[in-house]
Amino acid sequence: MKIIKTLIIGASGMLGSDLCKVLPDSVKLTHRDLDITDREQVIESIGRIDPDLVINAAAYTNVDGCEDNPELAFQVNGFGPGYIAEACSTIGAKLVHFSTDYVFDGSKKEYVESDIPNPINVYGHSKLLGEKKIIENMDDYRIVRISWLFGIHGENFVETMLRLSREMDTVKVVHNQFGKPTYTMDLATKIKEIIELDPGIYHITNDGVCSWCEFASSIIDNVIPCTSEEFPRKAKRPKYSVLINNKTEPMRHWKEALKVYLKERNA
Ligand SMILES: NC(=O)c1ccc[n+]([C@@H]2O[C@H](COP(=O)([O-])OP(=O)(O)OC[C@H]3O[C@@H](n4cnc5c(N)ncnc54)[C@H](OP(=O)(O)O)[C@@H]3O)[C@@H](O)[C@H]2O)c1
Repeated sequence: MKIIKTLIIGASGMLGSDLCKVLPDSVKLTHRDLDITDREQVIESIGRIDPDLVINAAAYTNVDGCEDNPELAFQVNGFGPGYIAEACSTIGAKLVHFSTDYVFDGSKKEYVESDIPNPINVYGHSKLLGEKKIIENMDDYRIVRISWLFGIHGENFVETMLRLSREMDTVKVVHNQFGKPTYTMDLATKIKEIIELDPGIYHITNDGVCSWCEFASSIIDNVIPCTSEEFPRKAKRPKYSVLINNKTEPMRHWKEALKVYLKERNA
């Protein structure tokens, strides 16, 4: 493979950390090194580093927090990626950027890349703005929509379930919201294939669909099903946010990935 200079932004996040493991020779910038909401800083840093490829894993990912802080959400998830795209376009770099299943409203069961987004929460709106800003500002992008992430380097659903299971006799988990859990290490490993894809939007997740309750039951033993109506959250969640991946080789089933994750976290 041709040697390329890669820059990873959001390098200390859950996905960013696994990307750093897979691409150890990259230049890595954390939030402390670069604030993507600062347009001048973004353009100066990317211009100075002059990479061939930028991978942006930085985002404001607290879905309920976005409802309370919409301005921050739009700055980080919407305008920030636009500044990165502007900088990439100026120096002729490729961009890989991560978006979300939450750009869809869940009124359809399954979503392909050409389906029209219609977010139902601030996080989804802000991530959709990020997609639009990238497309406006450059041509050589890959926007990768992903869902329900779990990985070693971040607080995630698997860890929440393990903690709640220790703290409580039974754990109520929503059984009427469906999606595709995805292991960050599998996505990170897939990056070498993603880089070679034609510019465009891609849906990439682990294989297999489940409800949060089914996902939880694969992790702990004391799960009790409940409805999303019984478990209100600040941000509305789509009922179905199943991303269909027809454009790349499918990844392994989430249950296999979960086994590997559980082994890794206990190692
Ligand atoms: N987690 C999921 O289930 C999920 C689902 C679908 C899509 N995604 C997308 O996948 C990508 C990776 O998600 P993740 O779960 O790995 O996120 P994460 O663990 O929350 O990491 C995000 C990183 O972005 C950094 N960051 C936040 N604001 C920033 C700013 N203004 N400038 C620079 N860096 C900033 C954070 O740093 P600090 O913590 O220091 O602020 C953190 O290191 C994101 O684009 C996310 O929207 C995630």
